[in-house]
This record gives sequence, structure tokens and C-alpha cells, in this order.
Amino acid sequence: MIKLAPSILSADFSNLFQDVQKVEEAGCDLLHIDVMDGHFVPNITLGPPVISSLKGKTKLPFDVHLMIENPERYIEDFVNAGADIICVHAEACIHLHRTIQQIKNYNIKAAVALNPATSLTAIEYVLGDLDMVLIMTVNPGFGGQSFISSTIDKIKVLRRMIDEQMLDIDIQVDGGIKPDNVHLVTEAGANVIVAGSAIFNSIDLKATVEEFRKNAR
Ligand code: DX5
Ligand code: ZN
Repeated sequence: MIKLAPSILSADFSNLFQDVQKVEEAGCDLLHIDVMDGHFVPNITLGPPVISSLKGKTKLPFDVHLMIENPERYIEDFVNAGADIICVHAEACIHLHRTIQQIKNYNIKAAVALNPATSLTAIEYVLGDLDMVLIMTVNPGFGGQSFISSTIDKIKVLRRMIDEQMLDIDIQVDGGIKPDNVHLVTEAGANVIVAGSAIFNSIDLKATVEEFRKNAR
């Protein structure tokens, strides 16, 4: 059974709350919130005040994907804003182990994201500390990009590493995932699916959510 995490990057920001209600009603599982700083990635999106404005207004857990430099400086702000999961990029953390412990000290879930070109070795020695690993299936920065298929092998190897160590860790994928390619990542071992444009550009949200679930196996 997959978890579906709509990325609000593709939502209508002038009607953000209504869009969040729509994905909640359509049966999605998490709210994926893309934070970009214009340094780690070329784009700038939103920060803690926007996340806070949704706090308490939806039952969907907040899955906060930090595409920012020096994320350790802002963990507390995102916890206070209502984050249930904080995901930092391995490429942005000099002291990754320390940053993971910092997140866990707030009793929320800790996740690490890897860009398409980053090897799994970046997380080899912290795997046991993580609740989730995010395998980026596009280069982070923008919604609506095309899926990079070389990431499929990385998902398979990660699934093997997790199973061999008998760990209970979610594998999340993010970028270019649609109902017609979701099977590629779920067959490889991913179980948390981020989808931005496929969800928010859909004219029949419930049908799209059902299609995702039906095609994931
Ligand atoms: C990309 C973001 C994604 C993005 C996904 O940097 O991390 O979450 O919004 O959007 P789609 O599903 O349109 O590729
Ligand atoms: Zn994301």
C-alpha cells in the first residue's frame, strides 16, 4: 500500500487552504511541502509562516522537504510551524549525522534526500537513524520536470539495503511521477509517492488518486 504525498508547489497559492482540503478529501496521505531558498536550488518558494498558516486546519501530516543551504539553522522554525517530517538534503549538510539527531530530538520523523547524481553511500552510515529516505527522481528546483529513469536502480539498491538490515524505513520518490509511470518506482521498492503537477493539474482529483493507487504495485 503506497502513501500519496501531493506537493503543494503545484497548488494554487491564492487558494492554498481550499487546495489542501481537496487533496485531503480525495484520500491523500501526507502534505508534501517544498521549501526552496534560491541558493541550494535556483528557485524560491515558501517558508515557516505559510506552513504555520495551515497548522491545525488539516489532518494531513506535514512532510517538509528542505531544499535549502544550512538547514540546521532552521529546524526549530519548521518544527514550530508544524512539521511532522523534516527532510534535509545530504548535499546540503556538512554534519549530516548531527542534523538528523537535531530533527529527532524534537520527536518528529527525520528524512534525508539524495539528488539524482548522489550515491547511496552518502547515507550508508546514518540509515539506521532515519524514518525515510527521499530518492529525488528529478533535479530539485521545479515542479513539472521529467522523471530520470537512472534513479530506478538506486531505489532497488536502497530497498535491498533496508531489507537486509531489517529496518523499517520508507522510501519516498519525488519528481516527474504520474499514474502511468508510478509502477516503475513502486516495483523498485518505493512506497511514498510525491506528485505535484499530476495531482494539482488533474481535472478529476479522486480519479487521479485512484489511478495512482491502482497502478502502484
Ligand atoms: C521538485 C520538488 C517536487 C515537485 C514535484 O524540486 O521537490 O516536490 O514539486 O513536482 P512534479 O510531481 O510536478 O514533478
Ligand atoms: Zn519535494
